[in-house]
Amino acid sequence: MRTSQPRTIYLSEYRVPDYLVDHVDLRFELFEEGARVHSKLAVRRNPEATGGPVPLELNGDSLTLESVHLDGRQLTTDEYQDKGELLIVPAVPDTFELQVVTWIEPQNNTRLEGLYKSSGMFCTQCEAEGFRCITFFPDRPDVMARYRTRIEADRSMYPVLLSNGNDVDRGVLEGGRHFVTWEDPFPKPSYLFALVAGDLVEQKDAFTTVSGRNIDLRIYVEPRNADKTDHAMDSLKRAMRWDEEVYGREYDLDIFMIVAVDDFNMGAMENKGLNIFNSSCVLARPESETDAAFQRIESIVAHEYFHNWSGNRVTCRDWFQLSLKEGFTVFRDSQFSADMGSETVNRIENVAMLRTAQFAEDAGPMAHPVRPASYMEISNFYTLTIYEKGAEVVGMIHTLLGPDLFRKGSDLYFERHDGQAVTTDDFVKAMEDASGRDLGQFRLWYEQAGTPVLTVEDDYDEAGEVYRLTIRQSIPATPGQSNKKPQHIPFALGLLDGEGNDLPIRLAPSEADAPATRVLELTEESHTFEFPDIPERPVPSLLRHFSAPVRVNYPWTRDQLRFLMSHDSDGFNRWDAGQRLAVDVIRELSGHAETKVDPRLIDASRVLLTDESADQALVAKMLQLPGEAYLIELTDQADVQTIHHARERVLKSLATALRDELMACYRRQQTASHYQITPEDVASRSLRNMTLAWLLHIGDEEALELALEQFRNASNMTDQSGALRALANSPFEAERRQALDDFYQQWQVDPQVVEQWFAIQASSPVSGDLEAVRRLLEHPAFDWKNPNKIRSVVGAFAGQNLPHFHSQDGSGYQFLAETIRRLDDSNPQIAARLTAPLTRWRKFAHVYSEGMHKALESVRDKENLSRDVYEIVHKSLA
Ligand code: ARG
Ligand code: ZN
Repeated sequence: MRTSQPRTIYLSEYRVPDYLVDHVDLRFELFEEGARVHSKLAVRRNPEATGGPVPLELNGDSLTLESVHLDGRQLTTDEYQDKGELLIVPAVPDTFELQVVTWIEPQNNTRLEGLYKSSGMFCTQCEAEGFRCITFFPDRPDVMARYRTRIEADRSMYPVLLSNGNDVDRGVLEGGRHFVTWEDPFPKPSYLFALVAGDLVEQKDAFTTVSGRNIDLRIYVEPRNADKTDHAMDSLKRAMRWDEEVYGREYDLDIFMIVAVDDFNMGAMENKGLNIFNSSCVLARPESETDAAFQRIESIVAHEYFHNWSGNRVTCRDWFQLSLKEGFTVFRDSQFSADMGSETVNRIENVAMLRTAQFAEDAGPMAHPVRPASYMEISNFYTLTIYEKGAEVVGMIHTLLGPDLFRKGSDLYFERHDGQAVTTDDFVKAMEDASGRDLGQFRLWYEQAGTPVLTVEDDYDEAGEVYRLTIRQSIPATPGQSNKKPQHIPFALGLLDGEGNDLPIRLAPSEADAPATRVLELTEESHTFEFPDIPERPVPSLLRHFSAPVRVNYPWTRDQLRFLMSHDSDGFNRWDAGQRLAVDVIRELSGHAETKVDPRLIDASRVLLTDESADQALVAKMLQLPGEAYLIELTDQADVQTIHHARERVLKSLATALRDELMACYRRQQTASHYQITPEDVASRSLRNMTLAWLLHIGDEEALELALEQFRNASNMTDQSGALRALANSPFEAERRQALDDFYQQWQVDPQVVEQWFAIQASSPVSGDLEAVRRLLEHPAFDWKNPNKIRSVVGAFAGQNLPHFHSQDGSGYQFLAETIRRLDDSNPQIAARLTAPLTRWRKFAHVYSEGMHKALESVRDKENLSRDVYEIVHKSLA
């Protein structure tokens, strides 16, 4: 057990910094046995700080202090206090220069925060509080400074030396060493600092900005990855153009660099001018990465690039404001992805993730507002709520204001706050000021946690031709918050007539230009709307395009859902109606072995499979059954095994009843002879893989031949791994083992593909029982130091292989607890992330929750528990 409880940090305790740093001069001496960091800070008393003179306090973490100089004079050890996490200098003048020399050991840094080594190269991750692992510094985002960074290292081992900004000097040193100096003209918080040193190759390109400036673009990778940078480079150029066109944002430095590293806790990092990426989020070629990876890379490259304005030029005042940059930037990258591909499909994918995972977070023990009020460890707050719900909140502002006023608002925000560290409230204020709209009540979206529930009732007055809707909202209690106030919710509505056409929606009789989709604004606990001139009882299409992150309850009949599936003019709601129908059918079967699958679901799927004129990208999405995690999220006291079996039965009934249609659909799919990621080709590959998976699931022999052929002859990884996944989940034991072996033989030299190979097995209820998963951990390609490997085995097992993870003997939970305990010392951030599935224990029936609770306790009782895991375990046991 941890002996002391970590301190809780509160938003209400925010104070402006006592000292500001105008300039940082860094010199890194990099060696194999460690690194010496010389830092020279130009410090002055903050004129906005109140009260008399106070000691200077600098944050530190795992540093060995070598010396401190104040205005050129070395301080004696009684002139400062080195408390490890704090360096205190009690007596300082109003303006001074502080020099600090520290020694660090990047080669032993397994936490991957601060400066560390990844396959032989030095790299950094400073967000949120990694800079303090490099040197003593006021490590908070409202201290913004200009940086000059000189890196010295062995010239043959580290020919490439990178940091933020422009390179201004380089030269040769004694002993086979060299140096490069970088200068970043833009003041930035320490979390945006970056350094890379390694033996890397570069791909060069160029971009001409709207005002005609020429920008040098470079992607640095290890030589073995030289053929995997094209897609990221193309994505980067598209993102740069898009941000100019849609937000009027031009790039500001003369050079923009991306570096790929294999060991990385998160996806990527937007360091000024020097983005650092997890290899899996930037490197791709068609032979070895899937469509999903290509799309993920495009959106993450764009996300990090967009941060240059939403995050770097305008940054966060404190970490409670994290969603200021993350929510807005996720919103921007999803707009970008929607513009690059299929808008509806992108919306469906985002909402499916939000409803499955963010809703679960918002209903669990770690639920927190988009702007949290307190935390113990900020790394634990890089959450779906901050990112995805935060993006939905920005999206609602976009819906309420419309695109033109929203753009006016973002222009005002960037202009007003350029070079500042601000709050989510400043963002909302800019939107208000530019649009003249009152977003007072809307701010509750930032303050209240929990997913609002909308209960909708309707009635139709035939004589008066009036349709009436009553919408009630309630927001469930979350930790530390009960009795919530009603929120301001944009609710997009459509009404369908008997033919499936949209009826004009009027709020007053004979209103001209009545729209087919009307955004109602809910502000009270209950609203009744009356719509005149409705000649027949309509079928309501509620919350079109998922206009707010809420749950909607309305008693649609199955016939109405089928009707919406084929007629709703809103593509998102067509998909949603299908999901609702499938959920309803699966639930009806749960625990009822004699109940048959409703033929309406089979018919609806048949229509989708055979309608070649429909948008195939949407069809591919609509055919997917709701996932187990989503079904669990919708259920109280969830019984995982029952849910799994009910879903399996529906899948098998569909596959059996539609065998010929599936086969025909499979054979019909044609893609361009060279690989491209158009929505059409992506949909086509997705339909091939889905039809194959369904048919293999029921043991179809002809499909087996097709799968083996596709596996062997595939010209791209989407086809090859799609076939492998189908085989891995099939009853054909010999073939599935052979295919898994062959795949490894073919791809063992490529760690990114090996990760896919791990994940396919660990997430498969057929190939990945606990014993098999334990064997994967013993596999020579597995590496406890590499977060991607851990995620591809342990993360995939606990997150996707639900029947085995939730084994009723508790073995899956114990396994996860063991893993967390093992990783807690070496990499607490990854350990904390892996804990999430256990925290949901209250959601499950007793046979499960008991075991999950026990597993959490065994983590809690570990010696020296990290602050990261401590916070999550204690909050979820509370
Ligand atoms: N700012 C990065 C992004 O979303 C994420 C960095 C997260 N780092 C962390 N230690 N939690 O683009
Ligand atoms: Zn981000």
